Amino acid sequence: MSKKLIIGNWKMNPNSLQEAKNLFNSIKEGIKNVKSEVVICPPFVYLPAIAEGNSGLALGAQNIFWEEKGAFTGEISAEMLKDLGVEYVIIGHSERRKLGETDELINKKIKEALDDNLKVIFCIGETQDDRNKGKKSEILEKQIKIGLNEVKITENLIIAYEPVWAIGTGNNCGVEETKESIEFIKKIVPNIKTLYGGSVKSENSGDYIKKTEADGLLVGGASLDSEEFIKIVKSVE
Ligand code: PGA
Repeated sequence: MSKKLIIGNWKMNPNSLQEAKNLFNSIKEGIKNVKSEVVICPPFVYLPAIAEGNSGLALGAQNIFWEEKGAFTGEISAEMLKDLGVEYVIIGHSERRKLGETDELINKKIKEALDDNLKVIFCIGETQDDRNKGKKSEILEKQIKIGLNEVKITENLIIAYEPVWAIGTGNNCGVEETKESIEFIKKIVPNIKTLYGGSVKSENSGDYIKKTEADGLLVGGASLDSEEFIKIVKSVE
């Protein structure tokens, strides 16, 4: 079985560097001998301190800007992240799309990240409204087509299927439905690595790996609880 990929997305948490370091260290301690690739994505401001002297756990960012450098107040470049030892970046998360990030901007970010050899976790997913209207496939296809327009598909690109209605709601997507969506994604982008994300917990995590084609998981809320996150990582071994 190939190596599984488990990503912890801390979002805008925790509130202090000390808490971030404690959380990171307890996760690191708990997963010492696992075979999966485990990636932690803290807020930007904690990355330098966490990256220093780090080994064992890979680091990811939650966003980047699409230009290389220059007069872009408040933005962070792919190269800056690479320089810190960051390997992954989440692009197109629904919480950013909600704030106005379009498929076109996501496309620019993906190109920039891949050009700089960052591994991209490209998030796609339908809202409850899309799902109710039977538009799921159409939405997923549009997000993929525009997001990956003129993007060379490489090993460094991973697609995370994250139904918006399942994120942070405790209402995870059923295994059958996840399986279908992942098959649909793989039909559009053959051989692509995929993750499932949306209310993943240790009670449901193993099923996504055993019963769908997903190559790993994108974990939000549960990655802030070291014990629970360690259980999730161990459940896919
Ligand atoms: P959740 O978040 O696990 O808290 O639902 C997943 C995500 O936003 O990536």
